[in-house]
Order: sequence, then structure tokens, then C-alpha cells
Amino acid sequence: MQEATVAAAHRKPMGRHGEIRGLEAQGRSDQFEGRFGRMFRTLPPAQFDAGVLHDLAAAMTAEFEATPTPETEADDEENTGISAGYTYLGQFIDHDLTFDPVSSLQRQNDPAALVDFRTPRFDLDCAYGRGPSDQAYLYRADGLKMLQGDPLTGNSKDPKARGVPRNTPETGEPARALLGDPRNDENVIVSQLQASMLRFHNRMVDVLGSDNFDEVQKMARFHYQWVVLHDFLPTIVGLDTLKSIFGTAKDGTVDYTQEPKLKFYKPKKEAYMPVEFSAAAYRFGHSMVRPIYRLNQSIDRLPIFSATGESLVGFRKFPTNLAIDWDLFFKPSDAPPPPPFGKTRVQPAYKPDSSVVNPLGSLPASVASNPSSLPERNLLRGWRVELPSGQSVAKAMGFAVIPDDKLKVGKATAAGKEKNKSITQVSPKFARNAPLWFYMLSEAQQQFVEDDTPIRLGPVGGRIVAEVIVGLMIHDSHSYLRQDRNFSPRREFLSPKGEFNMTDLLRQARQV
Ligand code: HEM
Repeated sequence: MQEATVAAAHRKPMGRHGEIRGLEAQGRSDQFEGRFGRMFRTLPPAQFDAGVLHDLAAAMTAEFEATPTPETEADDEENTGISAGYTYLGQFIDHDLTFDPVSSLQRQNDPAALVDFRTPRFDLDCAYGRGPSDQAYLYRADGLKMLQGDPLTGNSKDPKARGVPRNTPETGEPARALLGDPRNDENVIVSQLQASMLRFHNRMVDVLGSDNFDEVQKMARFHYQWVVLHDFLPTIVGLDTLKSIFGTAKDGTVDYTQEPKLKFYKPKKEAYMPVEFSAAAYRFGHSMVRPIYRLNQSIDRLPIFSATGESLVGFRKFPTNLAIDWDLFFKPSDAPPPPPFGKTRVQPAYKPDSSVVNPLGSLPASVASNPSSLPERNLLRGWRVELPSGQSVAKAMGFAVIPDDKLKVGKATAAGKEKNKSITQVSPKFARNAPLWFYMLSEAQQQFVEDDTPIRLGPVGGRIVAEVIVGLMIHDSHSYLRQDRNFSPRREFLSPKGEFNMTDLLRQARQV
């Protein structure tokens, strides 16, 4: 990426997903620990040039697909192991972790972001902002409940559905969302996830019957953190990776009561955000984005972007009939299994593989430009922050390095298996030198057997994602792992199976 482009990216107005504060300013010194840092400090940066990264990004961008099979609404890029809601829960978590409430003045005083920035936390600051005293416009007059937005229709199962609160703009101005983190209005799905978190907080006020904001906030956070550890992580990285961190309980499940063993993410003082996570591993979500989603059963499916018609693009007041039926995004923990096809099925996410849907190859200008290709931005960003190659990270972690001819570029589908090129066929410059983001996606793809094989992150990507998430939570003084290891979700919130997953959190949010 040209210097000017990177600088321009940093001048982006506050509020875009992917706005990176300080990411490119982290140090290489092993004395350094600031807001951003490195897990693999001694590994040399991988060497590329912008041309080969452009070619790889183009090869990773799927062909434009016509609306997938109208009768079944299904296609072969769908992942039987992960449903579509986790993609956006992943984006929500990213925003929570990278939220930076420091004032812009202070940021200007500390442009390198080396000191004084708050550590990344699972504290729902993206919903709470700086709290009811500081950002009173996010709260009801009681300073206890969160303000909600306009009523939404379209999902008969959720008659109380509300969007996020917005300002009333002057003519011609966009109706900006009033949020702790404006990035959570980037698309309709993450925006309604945010709205559901606001409702979950309000539900907690009612259930606790408390007028103590701190107490309610703490309980809402604990329940969200529980979902991150017990639902999101196993879904994305798989149980084996989690067991290798927490250990295995007698009944064969993950033993969350154990002290986690972190081998690679070991902050010496404060927790920091590793560039291996933010510029590579945690961008796995980009390959899971579908081109089109069904929000509810009363309207047609909508594309993520559209030059002409309605789409899921955010940063605006949405049509009111877009209320999301979360049963189409997260598998209900107890209800009988939904049909695999048709309007009422849970939509699967796309597979985390080395293919990104075509619309993300050309982002709308309101999201990012120059380059407008998201895979290209990811690859350039990884290069700019001097990430080591995927192979050297795999070796440093003690995992078998995948040979170049097995590092395939394209979809983890039967059709892709026939035609996908290897990375060195894209350019010989990638021999034993794959960008980390690409490597961990291609690594995930190694699990492919047939179209319906569930695909999660592989050993390198999964371990980085899991260690960083668990490590940040362990270092987070707000987390239940630090404050109350015996915490368990409220009994009345549990599913009949005794679980508390995202679907259970959303069920509670629907009550208010
Ligand atoms: C339609 C959905 C999405 C769009 C349009 C989108 C777009 C972007 C853009 C434009 C960037 C900045 C790239 C750069 O200049 O380096 C970015 C960064 C990033 N994205 Fe996404 N993204 C989406 C979904 C997701 C999801 C689902 C995840 C994870 C599960 C994710 C994780 C990240 C991360 C970790 C970064 C790095 C910076 C940060 O936000 O902290 N994104 N994304």
C-alpha cells in the first residue's frame, strides 16, 4: 500500500469498522509493550511486494455468484459447522476489543499509541460508551437503562424489536446511530446485534430489580463473556483447541475451571492487542461473510452491498421492516432442528477458507477505498505491520508446516478442489513465504473432505484466536474470570439443556 493511502486510511472518519488506531505503530523491541504488540517478536517479517499481494487478493476473490439456488437457498460454500450469526458476533467482539474511548486530543498527544491507551477488554464499551454520566445521550433519564431506537417490523416472533437509537438529522444528512462505538452500525446485522445487547442490558435491569447501574452492567458483561468463551470460541476454533488450553474435564468437555495454559500470548504487564491477531488471524471473519442474507421471512433476501437496490449497508436509518429473526442466524440450543433448506433454516456462514465473496473484492466507498478490495487491504496491512510468514509462525508454534502445493487458493468445495491453484502458482515469490492471513485460511481448508464437512479454524489460526481471546479475558479486570471464577449464568436464562449460548442471550433480549 502506498504511504499516502495508508495515511488516508488513518484519516478515515471515526466510525468505520477496521479503523485501526496505532496498529502500524507497534514496536519490535522486546522491551515494548503498548496497546498493540507482537506474539512472535523474534520472527523476521515476511517479504512481499504490492504486485504479488494484489494478485493473491484477486485469486482469493470469488467469482460473482448469481443468487444461490432459490428453492433451497443453499450453496456449496456454506459451512455446516458455523451458522451465519457467529460471523457478526465475531465482528461485534472485534469492535468491543478494539474500542478506544480515549479522547482524540489525547490520541493526538500520543500518536504512536505506545502508552496510556486502555487495554482491550470484553467490557461491552461498544454499547456502554463511557457510561451514563459521561455519555448521558445513550441512556434513559434514569441513568440505568439504555435508550433504544425505532420499532422494527418483519419478525412476528419479536413484536418488541427495536433498532439502535439515532439522531434526527437535518435534511440530507445521514441519521447517525448513537452508540458507544459507531462502527457497530456498519451493517444491518451488526447494528441489530448491538440493539439486542442494549435490550439484554435492559432485561438485566428488570431481572435483577436493581437500581445500581454498575451491578447491572457487571452482570450483563459476565453473561456476554460467558457466551464468548462457551459458545463463540468453541464454534470458531473447535473443542480440541480449547481443551489444549483449559484442559479436559472428567465428562470429556472443556474444563473451564482450570487456569488456562497460554503458550504464545503472554503479556508481561498489561494485556495488549497482538498484530498477528488483529492484522491476520481475527480477520478470518472476512472469509465467512455471505453475499446475501435472509433477515426475516416477510421480505426477500438482501445482498451485503448493492449499487441500485436495498442492501445491508449501514451508517444510515434502515427501512423499518428489517427486524432480524435471530433463529435464522443462530441454531436454537433446544428447539427441534430447523429444516436444512428453505426460508426457515438457520443460514450457515460461509467456510473460513482462502476465498472471499466477490462483493468484498470491491467495497463501497462508504466502507473503504484505495484499495477497495478487502482481501488486498488485509494482505497489505499484514505486510505493512511486518507480520512473519504463515510458515514461520506455524514452525514457531510447533505445528507441521503445510507444503506449498497444499496451500490452495479458493473455495473449500468439491468444485474448488478440482480447480484451485496453489499459492506458488499465483506467484513463485510465495514459496515457503505465505502471508499469515492467507496461510491460516488455507490451513482451515485442509479439513475439507466433502462439501458438507464442517470447517473451523485450523491449528495456527485457531490457537492464535483462542489464546488471545482467553488471554485478554484473563488480563481483563472486568471479566468474570478475574472477578468471580464461580460465576455461572442466571438459572432463569438457561435453556432446558442447562446451557447459556448466544441464542439464549437473544431470547432474553426479546423479552423487553
Ligand atoms: C461485511 C462485513 C465486513 C466488512 C465490510 C469489513 C470490512 C473491513 C475493513 C474495510 C477493514 C479495514 C481493513 C484495513 O484497512 O486493514 C476491516 C478490518 C478488520 N476486520 Fe472486518 N469487515 C467485515 C466483517 C468482519 C468480521 C466478521 C470480522 C471478524 C469476525 C472482521 C474482523 C476484522 C478485523 C480484526 C479487522 C482489523 C481492524 C479492526 O477492526 O480492529 N471483520 N474490516
